[in-house]
Amino acid sequence: MKVNKSDIYVFSGTGNTLSIAKKIAEVFNSKNVLTKVHRIEATDPKNIELSSTIGIGFTVACWNTYPMVKKWLKALPVSNGTEVFLFDSMGDSSFKMIASIAKQLENKGYKIIGSKEFKMPNNFLLVEKEEKKLKKLNITMPLVEKFAEDIIAGKADAVKGGFIYCLFFSFTSLVVNTWNWKLSQKMITFKIDKQLCTKCGLCADICPKNNITMNEFPVFNNKCEICLRCISYCPVKAISSKLLYKNRTHRGIPTGEIKWRNPI
Ligand SMILES: Cc1cc2nc3c(=O)[nH]c(=O)nc-3n(C[C@H](O)[C@H](O)[C@H](O)COP(=O)(O)O)c2cc1C
Ligand code: SF4
Ligand code: SF4
Repeated sequence: MKVNKSDIYVFSGTGNTLSIAKKIAEVFNSKNVLTKVHRIEATDPKNIELSSTIGIGFTVACWNTYPMVKKWLKALPVSNGTEVFLFDSMGDSSFKMIASIAKQLENKGYKIIGSKEFKMPNNFLLVEKEEKKLKKLNITMPLVEKFAEDIIAGKADAVKGGFIYCLFFSFTSLVVNTWNWKLSQKMITFKIDKQLCTKCGLCADICPKNNITMNEFPVFNNKCEICLRCISYCPVKAISSKLLYKNRTHRGIPTGEIKWRNPI
């Protein structure tokens, strides 16, 4: 079927996946496929437009994706053949998790018309130096353009999984679900440097889980899914965590664009 109109739904912790979604939309719009990008955290899955060709993009986290994304996917309405393309962004490897997500959507009646995983700068642990990040982006962004063109031309490939990949996906699903446990939340703990923090409230405003309350200084509650957005975008680097290597962070897009309450 020809792609006439598209809605892309994306979750992006620190901007990498959003920059891919925006590039796909740019290519689509340049070819007269009217395309809008929406944020998963700001969209009720029950209200998505099933007559459009749908794109869904997400971050790879622990060879899986965030519980909030999985919950959103699970809540999508049953469809009768809505065309969907999938993409994700990862630092290095995902063990083909996107194939398992595709399977779940197929089981709900969606038709997968392509899927691709893109290597982007690492936002966690192995955060690369700027030069290496640029190298990665120079390789990946042309692949994103090609993927978008292939989707429109109806000749995009889909990542193939298989039994072992599905099994591993089930295992990593168990792991990411433990992130919501009280014990895990205690271990995640982010610390605020009160000398540095300007009490600007940005971290609370951009958290996709509404996990941060401003109480003079930010207070973290028990719903964090380690997307790293607050840490990465704090303008004065006042948030630190044991989870990070040398407190290195990454921003995939400018601060204004990460604010999920703003239109894209
Ligand atoms: C908690 C967490 C887990 C991650 N797990 C993986 C992983 O399993 N494999 C991988 O290649 N990258 C992993 N990454 C890196 C991100 O997938 C990668 O940097 C991605 O492009 C970030 O996208 P975003 O900015 O849209 O959130 C992880 C990042 C975080 C924060
Ligand atoms: S974004 Fe940084 S400076 Fe602003 S309130 Fe949060 S921790 Fe403080
Ligand atoms: S507290 Fe920070 S890392 Fe946790 S979900 Fe919110 S923005 Fe993401």
